[in-house]
Amino acid sequence: MNRPVQDFLASRLSLLKPSPTLLLAARARELKQQGIDVLDFSGGEPDFDTPEPVKKAAVKAIGEGFTKYTAVGGIPELKEAIREKFIRDQGLDFHPRAIVVSNGAKHSLFEIFQVLVNPGDQVLLPTPAWVSYPDQILLNQGDPVFIPCREEDGFRIDPDALQEVLTPRSKLLVLNSPNNPTGAIIDRKRLERVVEIALQNDLLIISDEIYEKINYTGDPVPSIATLDKSVRERTVIVNGVSKTYAMTGWRIGYAAGPREIMEAMDAVQSQTSSNPNSIAQKAASFAIRSGEEFFEPMLVEYRKRRDWVVSAFNRISGIRCLPPEGAFYVFPNISGLLGRSYKGVPIQTAYELAEFFLDVARVAMVPGTPFGSPVHMRMSYAASLSSLQEGVRRIGEAVSLLE
Ligand SMILES: Cc1ncc(COP(=O)(O)O)c(C=O)c1O
Repeated sequence: MNRPVQDFLASRLSLLKPSPTLLLAARARELKQQGIDVLDFSGGEPDFDTPEPVKKAAVKAIGEGFTKYTAVGGIPELKEAIREKFIRDQGLDFHPRAIVVSNGAKHSLFEIFQVLVNPGDQVLLPTPAWVSYPDQILLNQGDPVFIPCREEDGFRIDPDALQEVLTPRSKLLVLNSPNNPTGAIIDRKRLERVVEIALQNDLLIISDEIYEKINYTGDPVPSIATLDKSVRERTVIVNGVSKTYAMTGWRIGYAAGPREIMEAMDAVQSQTSSNPNSIAQKAASFAIRSGEEFFEPMLVEYRKRRDWVVSAFNRISGIRCLPPEGAFYVFPNISGLLGRSYKGVPIQTAYELAEFFLDVARVAMVPGTPFGSPVHMRMSYAASLSSLQEGVRRIGEAVSLLE
């Protein structure tokens, strides 16, 4: 008797969970296909279209026949645009060989873990955190170690909590500021303490800055790499064009950091995906060069929505919502709703509440549990203000049915 096909799958795959955000979006899509009017706030992408001049740059590239393999880690023009961006925004100057362009920041992160993690290495992860980090770490046979961030601290990392989880196996620390799902931006004072601890304990830092430009504070987001020279030499910055320029489908992300790490990533990429899409690289070069002009109108719109959603959630009894400082998510605390019942059936978990919202309010939001918090839910406000208003109204109505 031949073995069933699933037995052939590599054992490390048993650690992989399908992305819960994509799962919820799929259920919402299914309902929509049945003709049900579902408002889907589960995704993580701008609702804006890619700016027209960026599309034109891609069309021009096609017209000019820029449709062949390129240098594995990115074309010189894009690397130069990225280099100039780092100088302009953060005062950091990276040699082109210290930059690797990949198929989205998610791909950059996977390659980073691939080249840095040995079996059993601990990767420290302040939570709530983006759902893909733990799975990417596990797939590379690392050990994710969670550092809970408190709501009372605005979900910013607590350096004492970092200190507490350290062991001789601790190797990497992942920072994500502004954060998905909380929108928290780590302040300079906390970063200084984190630098001290990281340097004392020989940690390497991965700074995921993909939401850098979606920032409502009025001040630039402090990047840990800018704090001092020694920490810069121990930090890999990850960024990309998906969120800033509404270019999620183009798949361009990049990493910049120590030359040895970047060369290893380039080598892995050369044997796996090769170069990112040539046409998308041209479009990304144009978007990054054009700088502020494209995202500023989007930021104005995001801020309006954020302010509206936060105050509307805070008017619903049982929900408490902090105003996020960046990104385009709210992360309301729903602990006041857990334990209440709908038609005699108690709702005990954020998952059950997400199902209740989908079934009764026809609104899709993601439970906080896979992000590391069982008493929150994530709503993306990268959606029109009118759909957000309708969505929060429906949630309020559904909540009023709970006993
Ligand atoms: C925190 C964080 N990092 C990285 C990414 C990946 O972005 P992309 O692969 O589209 O560049 C995302 C996307 O949701 C994210 O939320």
